[in-house]
Amino acid sequence: MGEANASEEFSALVRARRSVRDFLPDQVPGDVLDAVLADSSWAPSWSNTQPYLVAVAEGPQRDRLAAELQRQFDAGMAAQSGGLLDKVRALVTRTGIPNGDFDTTLEYPDELQPFRRATGFGLYETLGIDRADRAARDTQLRRNFEFFGAPVAVFLFVHSGLKEFAVLDAGIWLQTFMLSAHVHGLATCAQGALATWPDPVRKEFDVPERYKLVCGVSVGYASDHPVNSYNPGRRDLPRADPRR
Ligand SMILES: Cc1cc2nc3c(=O)[nH]c(=O)nc-3n(C[C@H](O)[C@H](O)[C@H](O)COP(=O)(O)O)c2cc1C
Repeated sequence: MGEANASEEFSALVRARRSVRDFLPDQVPGDVLDAVLADSSWAPSWSNTQPYLVAVAEGPQRDRLAAELQRQFDAGMAAQSGGLLDKVRALVTRTGIPNGDFDTTLEYPDELQPFRRATGFGLYETLGIDRADRAARDTQLRRNFEFFGAPVAVFLFVHSGLKEFAVLDAGIWLQTFMLSAHVHGLATCAQGALATWPDPVRKEFDVPERYKLVCGVSVGYASDHPVNSYNPGRRDLPRADPRR
């Protein structure tokens, strides 16, 4: 491939990958998934340490995790909107209260909040959900925890000993993984939401305590659901002005 072609293809590739939020139930062939995982292992990292760990859930493991994560979500919702008894029940049973290794419920800083809101509202608009319709928004949010119907859920853990630098490396891994998936005909959605309850994932996979769950990625084939047409676009790359 000529260099001009490679750069054009790369530009097209990074623009074509989208977060997909409705998947077909079709299974991902093992050799395709293996090829994508092999590509992703070439992501650069701090001193080539690859300070992360991935857990790939398919078949019954994926189904058990979807059921358990949705159970947690439902319990959390009941506690949030219910009365004192629901809140006490959630506390006593330790069900539904977010207990991620990282805080997935953190407040967005004021300067970033507008972008977050625009992205969320754009998504609801694509889905025909009124932004005041809390129940419909929660139903859509809940779909995160069944991986939007994807047959594969990948959970990404980072080594706590490298602190922020491990998270940085995990981000590079994530984009490498998603771009490889795209060129293999697969669709993905990175999901911070999947780091809300690590315990069910740890129950299914042998993950050393020093590795912390930072996010998940759903993987499969995109359906033709309108939600998958959503493209939030981009603002210009935030850049610092030179001092004069
Ligand atoms: C680290 C990370 C976490 C994300 N978490 C979620 C999530 O929990 N649920 C979701 O629907 N989308 C999630 N997204 C998808 C973003 O909303 C999406 O990447 C962004 O809106 C840009 O859209 P695009 O991926 O289609 O270009 C996440 C993306 C990243 C990179």
